[in-house]
Amino acid sequence: MSARRIPDGFRLGAATSSLQIEGTSSGDGRGESVWDRFARTPGAIADGSDPSGACAHLRHFRADVGRMVELGLDAYRFSVGWSRVMPTGREPVNLRGLDFYDVLVDELLTAGITPFVTLDHWDLPQALEECGGWGARDTVDRFVEYSAVVAARLGDRVKHWVTHNEPWCIAMLGHEEGRHAPGRRDPAEALRVSHHLLLSHGRAVPVLREASPGARVGIVMLLVPVEPATDRPADRDAARQVDALFNRWYLDPLFRGRYPEDAIADRVRRGHLAGDELPFVRPGDLGVIATPTDFLGVNYYSRSVVRAGEHGDPVAVAPSPPEALTAMGWEVWPSGLTDVLVRVTREYGPRLLYVTENGAAYADEVTPTGTIADAQRVEYLRRHLEASLIAIERGVPLGGYFVWSLMDNFEWGLGYSRRFGLYYVDYPTQRRLPKDSAHFFRSVTATRSVPREPVALESGSVS
Ligand code: FCB
Repeated sequence: MSARRIPDGFRLGAATSSLQIEGTSSGDGRGESVWDRFARTPGAIADGSDPSGACAHLRHFRADVGRMVELGLDAYRFSVGWSRVMPTGREPVNLRGLDFYDVLVDELLTAGITPFVTLDHWDLPQALEECGGWGARDTVDRFVEYSAVVAARLGDRVKHWVTHNEPWCIAMLGHEEGRHAPGRRDPAEALRVSHHLLLSHGRAVPVLREASPGARVGIVMLLVPVEPATDRPADRDAARQVDALFNRWYLDPLFRGRYPEDAIADRVRRGHLAGDELPFVRPGDLGVIATPTDFLGVNYYSRSVVRAGEHGDPVAVAPSPPEALTAMGWEVWPSGLTDVLVRVTREYGPRLLYVTENGAAYADEVTPTGTIADAQRVEYLRRHLEASLIAIERGVPLGGYFVWSLMDNFEWGLGYSRRFGLYYVDYPTQRRLPKDSAHFFRSVTATRSVPREPVALESGSVS
């Protein structure tokens, strides 16, 4: 079967995050994070679960690195739990917490796997939330301190750093929609939070470079191609509004040193801002945010189609046909990945890009022989890997692709009810079983190529 070749040097990896896999009740002095607290709010987590058990990765990390070796991974993206390293978000440092990441990094390097370390994957220490969280400017200083502490310990060996994962989600899901920790519903606060996240990113970049000589530093954004449901001007304007707040609100300050004027005007119109001035922006902030980075990480899952609702406000249009949806209800739309990578390259010119997350949840079933025939996920990954390689052909400086996720884990507000892993996790026993998608990914890393046609499956294993 014909296949597309993966260029030399292109990294194939998998991604996870601290809160979603580690397990929190390890008795190592870890402090509470906003997600531990949020999960205790009745109704906050769909299946009533919490992240305390997760994948018990803290106990099983050596075997999990072994799985990465099995998969033939070049790189592994994980996050450091801020409240594990600094239980109250500030000094003193919990050395036992830092030791865990130190050993993990050594284990990875010994296995020939390059660590990509994310500093903030949403698990802000609860103690800082109580001082105002990301809405408080002081949290910017705390993040810079925390970054310096982690880089001082790991920076001799870790050469790829991500400051924040998906600031949009923290700002909007956490502070405007209240669906994520800390569960606030305050649109004005959400904008202030977005600014403090970006500012802390810009301030941390030189600190990380200083502590980690030769390091590459970037930020990870969830990018979504936004399309109008029809060509009507009102629908087109609805799509513009979503793109402005979702994508450009972050890309413009990071790459151009300014917030998009149309997004500001939209927010003023909706009463979320009093006027064109952003009250939380101080002189010099935008220059700091636009500090040049070494790469941009792009998380991609799906596209968004919108139409104009009441007063021209955007309304999401339910995708169709139903068979093209993942268990998250997200439309399978691989060409959107090529599109966002090409767009961001043309409009913003990042030096280097990585697909830092891409994957799909499906209702996996374990057969009596322990196999998991996740043909839909195999096809999802195959098509998105292809979309990544097509982007390279179109001139995108893409350095790698990370599957979300290495193994099933705590999927935030949906708890353990959604499975994204290459490995199936049986939570009561903590056994991990490779899905067909794991075998598929293994074949991709082994052949350094991506098949052009759907892969044939035979009795639960990829042929
Ligand atoms: C992304 C998050 C990641 C995971 C996937 C499904 O938005 O970064 O932690 O939950 O979605």
